[in-house]
Amino acid sequence: DWTPGNVIAEQVERIRARVGDARVICGLSGGVDSSVAAALVQRAIGDQLTCVFVDHGLLRAGEAEQVERDFVAAVGVKLKVVDAEERFLTALAGVTDPETKRKIIGREFIRVFEDAAREVVAEAGESGGEVKFLVQGTLYPDVVESGGGEGAANIKSHHNVGGLPDDLQFELIEPLRTLFKDEVRSVGLELGVPEAIVWRQPFPGPGLGIRIIGEVTRARLDILREADLIVREELSAAGLDREIWQCPVVLLADVRSVGVQGDGRTYGHPIVLRPVSSEDAMTADWSRLPFELLAQISNRITNEVADVNRVVLDVTSKPPGTIEWE
Ligand code: XMP
Repeated sequence: DWTPGNVIAEQVERIRARVGDARVICGLSGGVDSSVAAALVQRAIGDQLTCVFVDHGLLRAGEAEQVERDFVAAVGVKLKVVDAEERFLTALAGVTDPETKRKIIGREFIRVFEDAAREVVAEAGESGGEVKFLVQGTLYPDVVESGGGEGAANIKSHHNVGGLPDDLQFELIEPLRTLFKDEVRSVGLELGVPEAIVWRQPFPGPGLGIRIIGEVTRARLDILREADLIVREELSAAGLDREIWQCPVVLLADVRSVGVQGDGRTYGHPIVLRPVSSEDAMTADWSRLPFELLAQISNRITNEVADVNRVVLDVTSKPPGTIEWE
């Protein structure tokens, strides 16, 4: 019968048999799937696994620490962190078009990951090992969506590292490919993956880069991170984390409106709240959050976040509006 413990035992055995004494690499995004896949492979082969975490500087408050500190402490993986914030911000300077932003972030992500993977390969080589495998957190719905065959899963967006260059060809290990999301969560909990990661709501690969309408700058990211943290704190305090699908928080960086704060007139930016309910992100409805909660979020953001003087609520379904604003 299906229990997380049985799934883990079976996968551990299969992974050990397949990997032997080879080395394995895994890209961590901070999301549920890659984290649970990494934890499972770590359980099977310990330090033969090296995880790579590319911090592109577009994460929300606390998310890098969640991977670098909490995940490592809980699961014991060997982790290589690449701080690439500067590189991503430089590449994004002056860019406002949403698809161009996605392309740039995707391209830089692959390059940074490839460089890190080369280093892992070289380090393994020095100690006489060979990196033969790449772990991917492909789930059953991904397999179905992409038509089936082994290794056929085409992971959405830039986290797809399927198209690696010749010197970085790995065989794929996909230990979650028979599982649904809720099963992955229970396997993750059983493996000791921190709850904040196991229950993390969907978050786009390009991160906050597509939640700043306008050019992405460090100052704007800091504003958005503060506002986003307040929203997450208040939704959690209200016990709504598992009720809503996700709540993008968007900074209209090129829009200003007049406000009055303290003794004077302000001319600041609006923050948009986009809470949605959904089953699979293909369609969505805007979440009817309690007015008191919205009031609390609005008060906190306008009081605590500099340069923001207005909070607005997005009451559009998908379709016609997508979940993200870009
Ligand atoms: P949309 O905005 O298309 O979003 O309604 C549907 C779901 O996908 C997420 N999303 C992305 N995820 N890379 C990702 O990995 C992307 O470029 C991207 N764009 C949107 C979004 O957060 C929502 O869950």
